Amino acid sequence: MSESIYQPPKEIVSHALIDADKYQEMYARSVNDPEGFWGDAAKRLDWMKEPTKIKNTSFEHSNVSIKWFEDGELNVSVNCIDRHLPDRADQVALIWEGDEPGNDEHITYAQLHRRVSRFGNVLRNMGVKKGDRVTIYLPMIPEAAYAMLACARIGAVHSIVFAGFSPEALAGRITDCKSTVVITADEGRRGGKTVPLKANVDEAAKHALGIEKILVVENTGNEIAMKGGRDIWWHEAATGVDEFCKPERMNAEDPLFILYTSGSTGTPKGVLHTTGGYLVYAAMTHEYTFDYHDGDIYWCTADVGWVTGHSYIIYGPLANGATSLMFEGVPNYPDASRFWQVCEKHKVNQFYTAPTAIRALMGAGNEYVEKCDLSSLRILGTVGEPINPEAWNWYNDVVGKGKCPIVDTWWQTETGGHLLTPLPGATATKPGSATKPFFGVQPVVLDPQSGEEIHETAAEGVLCIKDSWPGQMRSVYGDHERFVKTYFSDYKGYYFSGDGCRRDEDGYYWITGRVDDVLNVSGHRMGTAEIESALVAHNKVSEAAVVGYPHDVKGQGIYCYVTLMAGEEENQDLKVELRNWVRKEIGPIASPDHIQFAPGLPKTRSGKIMRRILRKVAENDFGALGDTSTLADPGVVDDLIEHRENR
Ligand code: WTA
Repeated sequence: MSESIYQPPKEIVSHALIDADKYQEMYARSVNDPEGFWGDAAKRLDWMKEPTKIKNTSFEHSNVSIKWFEDGELNVSVNCIDRHLPDRADQVALIWEGDEPGNDEHITYAQLHRRVSRFGNVLRNMGVKKGDRVTIYLPMIPEAAYAMLACARIGAVHSIVFAGFSPEALAGRITDCKSTVVITADEGRRGGKTVPLKANVDEAAKHALGIEKILVVENTGNEIAMKGGRDIWWHEAATGVDEFCKPERMNAEDPLFILYTSGSTGTPKGVLHTTGGYLVYAAMTHEYTFDYHDGDIYWCTADVGWVTGHSYIIYGPLANGATSLMFEGVPNYPDASRFWQVCEKHKVNQFYTAPTAIRALMGAGNEYVEKCDLSSLRILGTVGEPINPEAWNWYNDVVGKGKCPIVDTWWQTETGGHLLTPLPGATATKPGSATKPFFGVQPVVLDPQSGEEIHETAAEGVLCIKDSWPGQMRSVYGDHERFVKTYFSDYKGYYFSGDGCRRDEDGYYWITGRVDDVLNVSGHRMGTAEIESALVAHNKVSEAAVVGYPHDVKGQGIYCYVTLMAGEEENQDLKVELRNWVRKEIGPIASPDHIQFAPGLPKTRSGKIMRRILRKVAENDFGALGDTSTLADPGVVDDLIEHRENR
């Protein structure tokens, strides 16, 4: 663990929105007087009716209920677009950079207003009403932003499904939130390849219940099948449609979006975010974490299919009247200098990406960075998984030339925005630490066994949060009980993050990774249970157990133990078949790195699989298997070790 400390550079501190003293002062107020603090913070938005009730929240197990600004009324698209028109109609809101270099577009706030309004009217014409759920399965094209904001404008609840998910995964999400409308494109583009989005939706529609209309954006222009009565071309539906669209008046606690995320058990959960608190929190964290000043060019490399894209490409930046860059492509296409070329081309000031991308680009060599002019960069950010100090140092030295503070932001789909993060002008950083809490956030470290709070500054245990913040998820869509059970039951009275952490003697937080059966593969969250159920859905598989192992670039790799049905032959072809099967069931992001055939899995006498042992074998660390005497058949362990996959 590195002990180096980096003080915020003087040039940053002198212009920063928040310096160290101000952070202390504001943080103290945010936890001592949350009503006052957040009541003032809400003034950053335009309300149709100002909230008078600020905070009404309870983490009490018997009555988990989270409400912020509950009597306020507002519209998110008005806050992200209309209110900027008097001052910034001609300012660029979105810079879109295509997969192919040279293909880009600048969209002003005035243009955004017209396009989102038109999109909203098209949806209304299709019968979409306030409260209806709309599934969005789009690539990273401007229409993805228009679709999100159009839903917000008319009060529909969007559920974006990452365009890398398979038809099966898409179908499950459409059915769960009962959306009758799906918005997609003919095809997507990524790294020079096309992705058959409409064909995937057609396939999903065979399994999903209740799809009535599919709105299709023409993107690549390649031939696709259109089904009469169900499928509608966007450009046809939009012809002649009015560019004025009256925004719905929404209560602060009306749903804004659902976003599915993986947990340790069962199918993905529909994380529900609402309107007022979410937007206040996304906007405030965007401004302060990235020290965003008027006129800055800000780039978050995430996909809108993940929460990072929701909060930090669209809602946070646009609520702040920022210029936000949206990138269709991948870091290594056409080659490993793409990110840096885009930074140079658009003179990016804040750059926000994931450790997995940093590690991959670090591996490609410094020459890809050094040939680009990165002098515009001021702040560098990371998100998605713990960043190893080696990658942090490379990011700092080679990309940031030692002059750009790095903000390592820890947060989750559930939290809506950053919970732990340095602020560029306020917080000294340590490579690998997400440092300190954002305003209003009260992290605690609990002893995992007793559930007791550890009060000493230096502590190690599970990371929980003591009180609510406005960006917090409100429920699991359609299943409040699951919300309570997942986040408020193991440690009563706290929000349980699912992450382990260490707090050092300076009060800095170091995330040590998930303590549950959730994997983090290239910054993507994946439940081992989901991959297991995909595997056992194959007719040759009788049982499966999936664990993660450390992977140099991806953070974690996916290692699967598979028991076949009696009489099935273990061979290489079947491994390939199973790998493709998982890709089909979930999507390429869940592609197993290793599959080991295991005639028996290590189980306790009560039939519970001992994952600890499977993890150790996958990690090649079987010197420390621990106590195996409680296994029903300790002999299976030797077989597992003998037949482990070479990594
Ligand atoms: C992990 C992504 C360490 C963590 C915004 C968390 C991190 C999960 C960091 C949430 C970070 C995210 N340092 N770990 N800076 N950021 N994580 O819901 O395990 O896709 O629980 O949200 O990613 O992943 P999710």
